Amino acid sequence: MTDNLDGTHPAKGISAVAPKEGGGFPNPGLPPHVHRQADTDPRAEKRAERVVAAMFVISVLGTVLFIAAYFLFTPLGTNLLAESGTLHAVRWSNLFTGLGLAISVFFIGAAAVHWAKTLMPDDEWVEERHPSRSSDEAREAAAEIITSGLDESGIARRPVIVSAMAVALAALPVAVLAPLSTLGPLPGNKLHHTFWEKGMRLARDHDGTPIRADEVALNSIFHVMPEGLTQETPNFMNERAKAAAVIVRIDPALGQNEESLSNGYQGILAFSKICTHVGCPVALYEQQTHHMLCPCHQSTFDVTDGAKVIFGPAHRPLPQLPIEVDDEGYLVAGGDFPEPIGPSFWNLHKDK
Ligand code: FES
Repeated sequence: MTDNLDGTHPAKGISAVAPKEGGGFPNPGLPPHVHRQADTDPRAEKRAERVVAAMFVISVLGTVLFIAAYFLFTPLGTNLLAESGTLHAVRWSNLFTGLGLAISVFFIGAAAVHWAKTLMPDDEWVEERHPSRSSDEAREAAAEIITSGLDESGIARRPVIVSAMAVALAALPVAVLAPLSTLGPLPGNKLHHTFWEKGMRLARDHDGTPIRADEVALNSIFHVMPEGLTQETPNFMNERAKAAAVIVRIDPALGQNEESLSNGYQGILAFSKICTHVGCPVALYEQQTHHMLCPCHQSTFDVTDGAKVIFGPAHRPLPQLPIEVDDEGYLVAGGDFPEPIGPSFWNLHKDK
């Protein structure tokens, strides 16, 4: 067995270890300090200062590029290099705004690193270990060191860099504010109404044919749209997104919610298809349990109980579309949804 370095024998089962005191390796100390060029040559120092300032100026140019690109290369409006609304217009917009922001952020970082590496104090200090809490004298000395460190960092003596940095840092948030100027108008009451109106027939989503009540078999599901909603309808895509609904037919005896049943027709119930969590289409229907499932985050709605949330992150039931049957036996809406469809927002209750 190997002896310890101090010549004693290690305890049984323990390998040899270095002695607590003495022996071991000599302290290698610090290598000789090499001064940087900017520490010894005033012209190099001035050059480094100019480089740092130039980088901050380039950052400002990047910010200006971002703002200009945001207005001159828009995807849907003015675009100097492509036709509005095309994929090329989106690409140019992304390219120039991304480039501007990248330049702006990168050169602030690069300037800070170059400043620290070339101009900030480069002294090496050795401090002996001492008890965790310093003496009062040491604490005072530390405060003095910090104060003098600030003086030595030369911030007060380098107004050019400080000014350039201040302008660069002040300009960057402007790039963030620019998009706010193009936010659209307030939605008004658009979120409270959909295309559905009293007497409007429910039509199959894929071919637009109206649905008769006797075509809806027990436990079946139909994806429906208002019959009059066509490509020619103003704001077709928005209206379509808001009006999407599903109808299911359950045995009325299973219904647990009188109000919900009375808003349907002989167990045929219509609900908004837009999840009340964050708006995915709720399109999965489990026939055995009569649950509708949102595939995005698994919110589950009980169709027998007014589409109440029984699982998942949604906070309120799917709004129910009141339905009736017209003289020819077709399903028609009894009116619009009684409350806004889709994700809950500020003035919608959040109780399940
Ligand atoms: S969008 Fe439906 S659960 Fe999240």
